[in-house]
Amino acid sequence: MFKSLLFFSLFICLFFQISQATTVNVPSATGWPLLLNSTFLATKYDRSDNKLIVIYFTKDDCPPCDVISPLLGPWLTDTQYSGVEFYEVNVSHFLNIPSDYEVSEVSSLPSMKFYKNYEATEDGYIKFLWKSSAPLLMYQDASTFLNANK
Ligand SMILES: *[C@@H]1O[C@H](CO)[C@@H](O)[C@H](O)[C@H]1NC(C)=O
Ligand SMILES: *[C@@H]1O[C@H](CO)[C@@H](O)[C@H](O)[C@H]1NC(C)=O
Repeated sequence: MFKSLLFFSLFICLFFQISQATTVNVPSATGWPLLLNSTFLATKYDRSDNKLIVIYFTKDDCPPCDVISPLLGPWLTDTQYSGVEFYEVNVSHFLNIPSDYEVSEVSSLPSMKFYKNYEATEDGYIKFLWKSSAPLLMYQDASTFLNANK
């Protein structure tokens, strides 16, 4: 009896924790759609429809992120990029379960990854930018790559 009660409370606690993690109201720094967990993220990059997918990784308390985020915002509604999909991941508020390698290999923020016709190899992306100490340079590189591959 006690044992089942214990398991029941454990289940309630676990359930509460998980629902809290998924329902937290996280703002998007770029205005791009936010991806909150690895399951959902994988459905965005793991595809073969020849679309360019751009994932921007940011986090809390990140001055270089604050430099680049507002510059990226307008890409979402720019008609010359209407064939491109843009997504933001705020790693401070991201549930990386099951563990996703595409997230785990992002070690400095901000970072950007570009995908097209994903292949599950170590370098599944077509471009990975992580010059976090030079956000404006990163923005330039991202812009150039975007225009060449949109
Ligand atoms: C993952 O994110 C999607 C979309 O925001 C949401 O519908 C789903 O409930 C989330 N799943 C988990 C396990 O957090
Ligand atoms: C990440 O989300 C938090 C809110 O939960 C927000 O305070 C922070 O500004 C976000 N970070 C970025 C860089 O968007």
